[in-house]
Amino acid sequence: MPDTLLPAPLLATLQELLGPSGILTEASDTQSYCTDWRMLYQGKCAAVLRPATTEACAKAVALCVQYGVPMVPQGGNTSMVGGATPDTSGKAVVISTTRMNRIISIDHADLTMTVEAGVTLKAAQDAALKEGLMLPLSISSEGSADIGGVLATNAGGNNTVRYGNARELALGLEAVLPDGSVLNVMRKLRKDNTGYALRQLLIGSEGTLGIITTAVIQLQPQPRSRETALCAVPNTQAALDLFATFRKQDPAAIQAFEYMSGTSMALVNSLIENCALPLSEPAPAYVLVELASPRADDSLRALMEETLGTAFENGLVSDAVLAESETQRQTLWMIREEHAEAQKRAGASVKNDVSVPLATIPDFIERATLACETLIPDIRVAPFGHIGDGNIHFNLVQPEGADPAAFLAQDHAMMDTVAGIVRELGGSFSAEHGVGQLKTYMMPSWRGGAELDSMRKIKAALDPKNLMNPGKIFPDVD
Ligand code: FAD
Ligand code: MLT
Ligand code: ZN
Repeated sequence: MPDTLLPAPLLATLQELLGPSGILTEASDTQSYCTDWRMLYQGKCAAVLRPATTEACAKAVALCVQYGVPMVPQGGNTSMVGGATPDTSGKAVVISTTRMNRIISIDHADLTMTVEAGVTLKAAQDAALKEGLMLPLSISSEGSADIGGVLATNAGGNNTVRYGNARELALGLEAVLPDGSVLNVMRKLRKDNTGYALRQLLIGSEGTLGIITTAVIQLQPQPRSRETALCAVPNTQAALDLFATFRKQDPAAIQAFEYMSGTSMALVNSLIENCALPLSEPAPAYVLVELASPRADDSLRALMEETLGTAFENGLVSDAVLAESETQRQTLWMIREEHAEAQKRAGASVKNDVSVPLATIPDFIERATLACETLIPDIRVAPFGHIGDGNIHFNLVQPEGADPAAFLAQDHAMMDTVAGIVRELGGSFSAEHGVGQLKTYMMPSWRGGAELDSMRKIKAALDPKNLMNPGKIFPDVD
């Protein structure tokens, strides 16, 4: 007998619908789908459903609704907020999109890619690259994260500063709604003011309003010149001033502008192989700046050298290394992209994925650091992130040698302390990772009145039985 809480008739119908590789019921097979990347949550599920087509997905959803079975959509399972992890009841099914993994077409006239939800972001980027184009969404988890997942979370990442979040890149969408009907808004239009933009409801809805199955994503020409530099800076204000300097010179050339605190960089240097600091000595903070252009001339090199030269003279930069080859560029990016992994290896950590108005970032980091160090002496405050977007990952790593569970037991105290300062500065406690189940408790104090009311009404209209990813974003619907 399979190990599942699904009613026997439902199980039999799903098996017939999805085929042998389309449904997993043994705990040994489903376990990895029930744990998140950060290992914060260990849920259980009645089964993992793996439909290979939109049609099969829609039928599976309709069957789950008929039997009142909760559903948890899942892509690459890289959520930082437990968004794709089922609860511990074992009643829900995980609906994994990984078998819907076809790149359907690339359109050179419209500069778009039509792609199924289960294609990894990296596979989609590579397919665009092969055609001389670029999918301009870049996140450290791109090897595992799927197109459906990045749209469902409205992912941001390293290139948002130039191209926007996932939301800005999606022109069209197909999704299975919580009643099993298929919403098909697979258009390639940049202008389409015909009623509500329903695709935007699904984007960023974290699997609570339906399952994204296919999308039309905007592409860009592949850059033909790039300049990348890792800079040591004396403090956060200098990082921000450097950003303003580049922006003044040529805002359209800034492809990425990433901030790393000295503490976070030191964790990468010591805990990740081949990630030694490529500068003469450690600094209080660092910036990784990348300029890119579709032109093939050497004007970006001049822009980078002149801007950094002036920044040295003004004391904004104390040291810098410029990538002289693609290999060196990738090494610099690896140092940035391994921050999440280094913090994972350093023990338990509490993540505060926040955004604040740009000018307030130095004040935010200073005040939040002091507050957290007062709360937990010896805590390792290790912020980094997408400073050009005002998005700081104000991450807190347990004191060395401390008990991870005891540290995590204080997670709300830490998150509330940081969020309190974010609120005073007019920021957001949930910048790019979403609310998931981790931050659900914060919603009522951050969103109220007509805003929260409208969100609840939309949820209730599309999912009256609250079966689509329950317990995520909203505290339990009352
Ligand atoms: P999952 O983790 O599987 O799911 C995430 C949420 O989306 C869940 O709520 C799930 O129910 C829902 N969902 C998944 N697929 C679908 C679908 N097809 N339809 C409807 N709902 C769906 N995020 C950033 O924004 N910027 C970063 O720089 C960034 N860096 C990261 C680095 C690392 C090392 C890791 C582990 C994560 C990072 N993330 C980042 C967080 C994460 O949100 C992204 O990796 C990605 O957007 C999630 O994609 P996924 O396919 O793994 O989604
Ligand atoms: C990143 O930008 O690397 C991730 O979004 C941040 C994190 O690990 O908190
Ligand atoms: Zn990030």
